[in-house]
Amino acid sequence: MVDSLEKIISFCKRRGFVFQSSEIYGGFSSCYDFGPLGVEMKLNIKKLWWEEMRKNHDNIWGLDSAILMSPNVWIASGHLGAGFADELKECKRCHKRFKVDEVRDKCPECGGELSQPKRFNLMMKTFVGPVEEKSSLSYLRAETCQGIYINFLNVLESMRLKIPFGICQIGKSFRNEITPKDFIFRTREFEQMEMQWFCKPESANDFFEYWKKERIKWYLELGIKKENLREKEVPREKRAHYAKRQVDIEYRFPFGWKEIEGIHNRGDWDLSNHSKYSGENLGYYDEKKKEKYFPYVIETSTGVERCFLAFLCQGYEEIKGGRTKTTKSTRESEILLKLHKKIAPVKVAVFPLVKNKKEIVNLAKKIYQLLKSHFVAVYDETGTIGRRYRRVDEIGCPFAVTVDFESLEKEDVTIRDRDSMEQERIKIKDLLKILKEKLN
Ligand code: GAP
Repeated sequence: MVDSLEKIISFCKRRGFVFQSSEIYGGFSSCYDFGPLGVEMKLNIKKLWWEEMRKNHDNIWGLDSAILMSPNVWIASGHLGAGFADELKECKRCHKRFKVDEVRDKCPECGGELSQPKRFNLMMKTFVGPVEEKSSLSYLRAETCQGIYINFLNVLESMRLKIPFGICQIGKSFRNEITPKDFIFRTREFEQMEMQWFCKPESANDFFEYWKKERIKWYLELGIKKENLREKEVPREKRAHYAKRQVDIEYRFPFGWKEIEGIHNRGDWDLSNHSKYSGENLGYYDEKKKEKYFPYVIETSTGVERCFLAFLCQGYEEIKGGRTKTTKSTRESEILLKLHKKIAPVKVAVFPLVKNKKEIVNLAKKIYQLLKSHFVAVYDETGTIGRRYRRVDEIGCPFAVTVDFESLEKEDVTIRDRDSMEQERIKIKDLLKILKEKLN
């Protein structure tokens, strides 16, 4: 596990995981771009979450709703009110704003006097249409789940669903965070993976426990260590404005224990408020009682970037002096990224043992062409074989295939395991099948 965030930040840039946005213009605060390896890893995380919801559980369907919605959605949800705001003090001299619990009387930047606390709403404003006036004011969504509530009837009726059922969604959300910090941990633009479970009010407590356990299991199965994960029951005064109960799943980052996922019992807050504000009854018809009621919602809500950061922090190992016996004492340290094979951005690397023997190079290239249509693969022939192994260990690539002199006679290759560094010889004709099994 990594011991400082700075190491992760520089690693992410050096190896093409995450770059500062608009870097050539001096950077754009709190915005980040995901590089070639970052985007693969992010896609893997989203796919794993989607499969967890859609394949591993019954009665959950997906949705992809718009980022822009009627501003009335945010009035009804309570996000335009005081409940979705940070309490801040503003410096009277430099006008910078700080969270109340992070400062005292003086500005930490310029020493100026601070104002009384004021509440600043986090909704990100925008104008829709050609004229910038009040009637065209809209908001970028602050949570994806509102798109789910306003489509509750559409999904229920089109899919002929019966309670309990879930609707899940992955997508961008935006918050005008006043104090974005800790790299991609708190940003103004981020991606959420949210699932809303609609159930009878009397079964909400049981489902809350069920979903909390399921979500914790997901992180553990994907390599997060038990000792770095904990649940935190959030007291009433600190809960989100819609939550009857809230448990935060926290990960031990190098900058402390922080929330990666929230499990919320939202009661009927959203469906009843949208019914009230829209005039459309979003109730569910109980066939036995012959009446409509508002289901309760158990929500699981996590951020793609926070998962990404937690998996990176967990997997990052720095090995002083390197792992191999032949290591020269001049080499300071090696990085081994022990990502779960399903999260790893590159699954397999292909190397010719030497680059000056044409037959070996040609065979390695042929194997690479075969593998790259099945997995994210890389081909590398530069530098010593040891250096090439280290380069792919560093990006968490679980397997490296090497073509050597024996390969030409025996039609086989070696497969090296990232973590054990053990190598086995495999017939080329069986390679694809074996890699598929190993990566499954
Ligand atoms: N729909 C419920 C909801 O949005 P939340 O606790 O405000 O609940 C859920 O957010 C998750 O979204 C968080 O646990 C975190 O993973 C992610 N998230 C929230 N704000 C974020 C931010 N500013 N930057 C990155 N991720 C964020």
